[in-house]
Amino acid sequence: MPSLPEEEIYIKNTPKSREYFEKISKIIPGGVNTAIQFFRPYPLYMARGLGGKLWDLDGREYVDHCLGYGAMTAGHANPVIIEAINEQVKKGTLLGFQAEGAYELAQELMRRYPYVEMLRFSNTGLEATFYAVRLARAATGRKLIVKMEGCYHGASDVLMISDKPRRRVILGSVHNPASTPDSLGTPEEVVKQTLVAHFNDVGSLERVLQKHENEVAAIITEPVLTNSGIITPEKDYFREVRRLCDEYGVLLILDEVKTGCNLSAGGGSQLYGIEPDLVTFAKAIGGGAPLAAFGGKREYMEMITPLGGVVHYGTYNANPLSIAAGLASLKKVMTDTTYAKINKLGDELYKGVVDAIADTGIKAVVGRCTMMGSIFFGLDEPPKNYREASRCDAAKWGRYWLHMLNRGVIPAGSAWFEEWMVSAMHEPEDIEKTIQATYGTFREIKD
Ligand SMILES: Cc1ncc(COP(=O)(O)O)c(C=O)c1O
Repeated sequence: MPSLPEEEIYIKNTPKSREYFEKISKIIPGGVNTAIQFFRPYPLYMARGLGGKLWDLDGREYVDHCLGYGAMTAGHANPVIIEAINEQVKKGTLLGFQAEGAYELAQELMRRYPYVEMLRFSNTGLEATFYAVRLARAATGRKLIVKMEGCYHGASDVLMISDKPRRRVILGSVHNPASTPDSLGTPEEVVKQTLVAHFNDVGSLERVLQKHENEVAAIITEPVLTNSGIITPEKDYFREVRRLCDEYGVLLILDEVKTGCNLSAGGGSQLYGIEPDLVTFAKAIGGGAPLAAFGGKREYMEMITPLGGVVHYGTYNANPLSIAAGLASLKKVMTDTTYAKINKLGDELYKGVVDAIADTGIKAVVGRCTMMGSIFFGLDEPPKNYREASRCDAAKWGRYWLHMLNRGVIPAGSAWFEEWMVSAMHEPEDIEKTIQATYGTFREIKD
């Protein structure tokens, strides 16, 4: 029996999702095809999306700030992207040879990210980060990778380490954060190859690099943490990270899978003036179709087969459907005017949430970068890294999530460490509805 009133309302509102969950979960584990979509008492199942909204199987309407976890910034069923996909469908969806379009899309990404001299397309963020790591290992002849505690870079063995460590015993001390596999089935040898540091803490990075001098191939990090809530880099942090990489002969891999072409036209690289050796993209670059890329300095990219010995394969790489959607999105939808609109709505949303915190007196702080934001309940200060963020009140966040769903708003991705976003097709009324729902929710869950 549900114990919380918001759970009872959710169950009353969503009988068709419940019915579908009971059916699908018999043959698909957890009733979802990626665990992040699961939540209790059961996940929502959606029928369709349009612009900044989704409709569930019961026909209930939601303002959507999850936006496919960053992939749908152009908006659901954006007509410009639909037209591009329709045109391509008529010419074939997968040709088994390189089709036109990849050149133009690579050029557009290189215009936004001037340090990228060459790039290769893949399908998912996991692939992009996996290949960037392989390339860094090949380029340096070294094995170890350093990642930031709490960061998610896709579910490959090497990077699915210390993504969301919880208990102190597996966190390790502040000075010596442990490498903790997030998944069963990760070989011990692989765990040892991924070292962990804290974001916004140059000292912790330097300690790891000193201890493992000449063994570290790459540091991988997001420019702004988007998987520990939103955590922005402190002033000069990336200048110091770059300095350390150069001093220790380590490649810097910037994971712009979620931030890329989202936080700004040139993502976090442009906002913070970061010049990595390799960068990874996915999500927004495909306009809602599966598309990813990794790229960077020519000297490294020329090591990829058939030019060099670093293997990168994939039947669906740069498939014409995804390229068509990506081109339409980046060249026609995500223009400077669109970024200005998104940022303006992002400002309004941020202000509305901050006002709601002040007016209702709920204990919470907000992390924010342009159109992305996240709420940390129970904290006094915005956190600087995952370890600080993980002290937030996750149970309260769960109540906030269900209350917001009950009010017709998907406030963010479905966990405290996810964030809200704004799309090219959100309208001021959507933002107003979200703010009103936030006020109502905060009043309910305050104590
Ligand atoms: C920063 C970051 N890197 C990599 C990934 C993995 O991307 P995908 O889900 O496309 O494999 C994600 C997914 O959310 C991400 O947020």
